Amino acid sequence: MIPESVNKVRIGVLASGSGSNFGVIAQQAQAPNYPGEIVVLVCNQAQAQARERARHWGIPEHLIANRDYAHREDHDRAVVAALQQQRVELVVMAGWMRVATPVLLAAYPERILNIHPSLLPSFRGMHAVQQALNYGVKISGCTVHIVRLEVDSGPILAQAAIPVYPADTVTSLQQRIQIEEHRIYPEAIAQYIQDGYRVESVGSPTNGAIPATLDQQ
Ligand code: GAR
Repeated sequence: MIPESVNKVRIGVLASGSGSNFGVIAQQAQAPNYPGEIVVLVCNQAQAQARERARHWGIPEHLIANRDYAHREDHDRAVVAALQQQRVELVVMAGWMRVATPVLLAAYPERILNIHPSLLPSFRGMHAVQQALNYGVKISGCTVHIVRLEVDSGPILAQAAIPVYPADTVTSLQQRIQIEEHRIYPEAIAQYIQDGYRVESVGSPTNGAIPATLDQQ
């Protein structure tokens, strides 16, 4: 961990639902030696519980509803504006159920992290837990990765694996995966900041349009 005197990286969280990951990150970021602070929550669903969590932690929140924008790029422009207004340096997707467009990626290249409820590169996209159960895998888990244009494909920062039991349902497996998400996501974010936003792995060779190692600006 870095000393208290060093400025904390300004984090913007994007969430669409419950926001349990957002909540644990917000809680851990209270620690004086956590290297980032959450300065804004952007939510795209009016009813999302994440918004209540923002109020609980005293974090400013912006509702940017999907329905107010005809095109995904326009929605992302509004998201970028909200993030830039708070001088966000690192974007953390925590259950953000939108695919990032080039608008968002260009504003924060190699500066957007995501958590996904599978062991990537298996079961990308929507309904990952259902996909894993349908396939019959015996091990599943979660992955923290850098966001790039191809969905759920950027360099992997952290993973946790758990067994899949014969009696598992989507709900039971999701719940055990989330326990691991809450453990690894705050730590992976801190590590990424402390490493100066660098990763050793370059992830999928098919989406290498953006260099994997950018110097921290
Ligand atoms: C998390 O399990 C996360 O892995 C998943 O949404 C959930 C959000 O939970 N994300 C995706 O499926 C992204 N493709 P939360 O709102 O309680 O943090």
